[in-house]
Amino acid sequence: MKPPRKLHIKSYGCQMNVYDAQRMVDTLGAEGFVETAKAEDADLVILNTCHIREKASEKVYSELGRLRLAKAQAARAGRDMRIAVAGCVAQAEGDEIIRRAPVVDVVVGPQSYHHLPRVLQRAAREGRAIETEFPPQDKFAFLPQPKPDDIRARGISAFVTVQEGCDKFCAFCVVPYTRGAEVSRPVEKIVDDVKRLADNGVRELTLIGQNVNAYHGEGPDGRSWPLGKLLLRLAEIPGIVRLRYSTSHPRDVDESLIAAHRELPALMPFVHLPVQSGSDRILSAMKRKHTVHDYRNVIDRFRAARQDIAFSSDFIVGFPGETEEDFSATLALVTQIGYAAAYSFKYSPRPGTPAAEMQETVSAADMDERLVRLQKLIDSQQSAFNSAAIGTMVDVLFERAGRNEGQIVGRTAYLQPAHVMASHEIIGQVLPVRVDSLERYSLLGELAASMPARTLRTVSSQTTIGA
Ligand code: 5AD
Ligand code: SF4
Repeated sequence: MKPPRKLHIKSYGCQMNVYDAQRMVDTLGAEGFVETAKAEDADLVILNTCHIREKASEKVYSELGRLRLAKAQAARAGRDMRIAVAGCVAQAEGDEIIRRAPVVDVVVGPQSYHHLPRVLQRAAREGRAIETEFPPQDKFAFLPQPKPDDIRARGISAFVTVQEGCDKFCAFCVVPYTRGAEVSRPVEKIVDDVKRLADNGVRELTLIGQNVNAYHGEGPDGRSWPLGKLLLRLAEIPGIVRLRYSTSHPRDVDESLIAAHRELPALMPFVHLPVQSGSDRILSAMKRKHTVHDYRNVIDRFRAARQDIAFSSDFIVGFPGETEEDFSATLALVTQIGYAAAYSFKYSPRPGTPAAEMQETVSAADMDERLVRLQKLIDSQQSAFNSAAIGTMVDVLFERAGRNEGQIVGRTAYLQPAHVMASHEIIGQVLPVRVDSLERYSLLGELAASMPARTLRTVSSQTTIGA
């Protein structure tokens, strides 16, 4: 019997890339590959890349430089190391990668990774292979199911892609080009995947999609189901105690989603709702399809449905034409909403997007200065939000052993890490914790031991994606 071939995948960027990397492991596992943590030992190294900002893209080329040395060393030892570039840079710059980086054997776009075995065979035959088409078939239909042991090894919290691609075409964003048009997976397919995950220990699901609340998959009744209805269905699956979804577009928040937050205790009261800017002038130039007023209305509707709801967001500073006045409007919006967390980025022109052609660029110095001011404000809100937990009782879903002996780590409803001293048995359970103190972003506390364990309560990081 041939020894298994070793596979190393390095993922950059969003949660969907983490999910896609697991699907590639499942696909190649069926071909006899096993994962290794060390790139140098691997027979196949896959870089699962991100194209959202220039900095993210550049990482690919510097990593390929390192891999060139590892490949040469492997060759000296008589081993044939293959290098593949997958993900959004592969999709956007496939031909350029082949031209610029002779070390790369295979380029495969995010819609084609179910074809990886075939593409690898082609590369073995022809030297190099590239596949960045948007195949008409549903790639999910061709992906092998993860093995029970692999599901268990990946932990109690899992991502599930329910929707992919985006039709919004915000002026700054590459996603509609790299991930293609919006596609939703049918309800029953998602239900089958989730049952399998739950049967193998998964307790928390994050439904992911570049514009997840545009979900409109076919239901078992033949009708198109909105995200809220899908969440209600998934909450019925035994074992699933927490549900989340990411990333949403403010314009696609419909009544079904609001109702799900009202009706489902398992749906966590923490919503990632990117706004990008607090200036209507900039939102319009960004082609966001919503105003500041629309955004505040959506937040109000969520808050009316569930009092304890909290929000995170994405912001871009220095979009072309952004004045100090526009930026002040962003700060004002952040102050008004009060976020539990948020991501902020300097605008990065992306080739092929309409904004990349815009002339009125903001200077690097202004961008830097605005980013610092915005991040300071967001940090102070996050600290206030975290400090407010001290002295209260919070529900924590325990995930794994902590770094210190005897410590178990979990997350609150708001994704705050929480640490307690306890036995391993609590992993997979939602238990109340009395929060004593805060260490950076983590809550430290004690199990409220007098309370009965609520194992399977009825039914209940990384950067962000899209929307
Ligand atoms: N420049 C800077 N940030 C961007 N994002 C998307 N495109 C760009 C860009 N060209 C940010 C948005 C989005 C998040 C995933 O990345 O804030 O919500
Ligand atoms: Fe789509 Fe979000 Fe990108 Fe806009 S920012 S095009 S909504 S993925």
